[in-house]
Amino acid sequence: MEIDLRTPWHIGPVEIPTRLVLAPMAGVSVQAFRRQGRRYGAGLVCSEMVSCAGIEHRNERTLGYLRVGADEHPLAIQLFGSDPRAMGDAARMVEAAGADIVDLNFGCPVRKVTRTGAGATLLEDTELAARLVASVAEAVDVPVSVKLRRGLRNGSRACLELGPRLVDAGAASLTLHPRSAEQMYTGAADHSVTAELVSLVDVPVVASGDVGSHAKAQVVLGTTGAAAVMVGRGAQGNPWALREIVDGDAEEPSREEVAAELVLFVREAVRELGERRASGFLKKFYGWYLGRGRFPRPFKQELVQLESTEEVERRLFAAAPGAIELVERLEAAVPSADERTLELPISIYGGG
Ligand SMILES: Cc1cc2nc3c(=O)[nH]c(=O)nc-3n(C[C@H](O)[C@H](O)[C@H](O)COP(=O)(O)O)c2cc1C
Repeated sequence: MEIDLRTPWHIGPVEIPTRLVLAPMAGVSVQAFRRQGRRYGAGLVCSEMVSCAGIEHRNERTLGYLRVGADEHPLAIQLFGSDPRAMGDAARMVEAAGADIVDLNFGCPVRKVTRTGAGATLLEDTELAARLVASVAEAVDVPVSVKLRRGLRNGSRACLELGPRLVDAGAASLTLHPRSAEQMYTGAADHSVTAELVSLVDVPVVASGDVGSHAKAQVVLGTTGAAAVMVGRGAQGNPWALREIVDGDAEEPSREEVAAELVLFVREAVRELGERRASGFLKKFYGWYLGRGRFPRPFKQELVQLESTEEVERRLFAAAPGAIELVERLEAAVPSADERTLELPISIYGGG
């Protein structure tokens, strides 16, 4: 039987309007990405992981500031760290700043993070992991969720022991990306482990990993009993995939639509990061977007080499003149008021 992804569900008292969650991705999940995700059907969006130590000391090489827009809610802000007191303090800050959910990263496999005892290391440090959740749950009134991988080594089932402990400690939801940290992004996400986790806990579980289509979302939801699917790489430069996953609407975007979404994304990224940082940040997105819309092959390369984002915009409009009007319409529909910029350093590298 077809599962309706437009069915609301809850994390604690927070209502999530659809069963699709946009994944936290370091170096990707900027506000422009999250807002776009909401427009295309994500019921919950998440910030990229924010360093708790960075918040505490403010001496991390500050790569960006987290912004929260009025149209992003419900929004989860993800923290990583390994000191329960500092995590509690950071959680209080992000709650005050507007997070509807505080998410904890217990899955990042990147060495820079794991060697500090944070991220995936916590998958096999049950005591500390539970203390971190308890400390954060104690510090804030909003629900606390945790994002896990299956374990550190290939074949590990550590998440099945850890998950219930985290719920006992106060986690209101768990997200599982059922790959090991060692696997990074190789092999496949084994959602039979997600099904086992669902059977062990009485909080909603979100299934993350390799969900890129409506058909796959149906299989994962149907076979795991997960409350929602999370989509990461499949949404990079491709918001239309979100619409397809939620509604089964497989209509390919026109060249004009692709150009218009990209121009809007460029403008928002520049507003958020400033021209200099945005132009570097955006380069990977050009390739991702221009896979659709039948742009001539060398066009991508040309965009990557341009000096300014204004020039990028000019080229996009020249290649798809109908996009000018579409951008105007999109901008008129996107609210820009009531936005808060948080003094939270964003770590651009990482993962989960
Ligand atoms: C570039 C990139 C950055 C990521 N950064 C984070 C992160 O900051 N926090 C996190 O919990 N997971 C992070 N992830 C993991 C994703 O949230 C997701 O669990 C994983 O990519 C599997 O889902 P997918 O197959 O839909 O991409 C990252 C993944 C990628 C590809």
